[in-house]
Amino acid sequence: MIDEDELLLIPGPTTLSSKVRAAMARPQQSHVAPEFYNTFKESLDLSRYLFCNTKGLQFLFTGSGTIGMESAAISLLEPGDRVLSIETGYFGHRFTMIAEIHGAKVDAIVTPLGKKADPDLVEKRLKSDKYKAVLFTHVDTSTSVMNDTYELSQLAHNNGAFAVCDSVCGIGGAPLIFDSAGADIVLTGSQKAIAAPPGATLLAVSNEAFSAMEKRKTAIASYYMDLVRWKPIMDDPKIYLTTPAVQVMLGLHEALVEIKEEGIENRWRRHKILANALQAGLEALELEPAAEVHSRAPTVTSFYTPPGRSAEIQETLRSEYGIHIARGFGEYKDTMLRIGHFGNFSATDVLSLLGALELVLTKSVRPSPGKAIEVAEPLLRAA
Ligand SMILES: Cc1ncc(COP(=O)(O)O)c(C=O)c1O
Repeated sequence: MIDEDELLLIPGPTTLSSKVRAAMARPQQSHVAPEFYNTFKESLDLSRYLFCNTKGLQFLFTGSGTIGMESAAISLLEPGDRVLSIETGYFGHRFTMIAEIHGAKVDAIVTPLGKKADPDLVEKRLKSDKYKAVLFTHVDTSTSVMNDTYELSQLAHNNGAFAVCDSVCGIGGAPLIFDSAGADIVLTGSQKAIAAPPGATLLAVSNEAFSAMEKRKTAIASYYMDLVRWKPIMDDPKIYLTTPAVQVMLGLHEALVEIKEEGIENRWRRHKILANALQAGLEALELEPAAEVHSRAPTVTSFYTPPGRSAEIQETLRSEYGIHIARGFGEYKDTMLRIGHFGNFSATDVLSLLGALELVLTKSVRPSPGKAIEVAEPLLRAA
């Protein structure tokens, strides 16, 4: 049984506003009724606002973030295409796997833990071979490392490759302006910084990348994930292709309205201020973030725990303080914990989490009592 008052701070899904929850609890609607397609059309416009996309195409359909990744790969890449994949964590590796499954020949650059992609290294690889696309993750949710989307996209373009960015853990919290970022495909999922329920994927696609999809020599080997097939539905959502997850789309619509009301730049600023305060507080508790200072994300933080204590800290935070954070990813399960600080995350949440963490830690070692709040509080005054 999930407690209504539990503070869900895992790296997605995240806490939903009461309006988003109410939107999902409405009576079942027909997916072809005028009310639904009006809402859907509005969500597409609001998605353009979210991505800052006035120049390219915008897509929205049912499926998790991985469907977005796979749709991008299967629609753009043809069997045998050369691809450079930059892996800054588990999800970067997932992109490599997806491209390989669909027949691309992938070279991967794997960055050391905590570091973002090294532009010199990327450029060297791009100059040494001819690649059709560069795949990279904006914010990797496993390591909480954030890449420079603009820099990587420019490098790809300067070397004749399409730039494809997985921003599942970025869009809505970490700055990204599709019109000027230069990426050809940026994709996300609904359940992280957008603060909607899981189940919808959103993509922005440049006209050049879409034209390459249309002009392929081989057919796109998927019915559902073929972006060329989805395009007419995005132009006119009255056309039936598949039945959307209506409730998810209603919740997403409300979350997108809330983003527009807050203003995207205000939202980026709020995420940055809260992340700075949280990360400073963690450091004051001697809980070092996994990402280097200049690679840290405003949406998620992975941090090292005292040896052997990650499970216990996570469990105690939840059972005694009602705060739910996640274990480290994969091989870092026992040495790290992860906090999703996006969407509706607030200054109160920063202080509650730091206070509770300090209390959990002081059961054995006593760092400096009150230190985390002392360093975080002045940083929050900017909020
Ligand atoms: C960076 C990143 N990419 C892709 C995904 C996959 O998204 P989904 O789990 O919605 O399929 C995730 C999920 O956490 C993610 O964090």
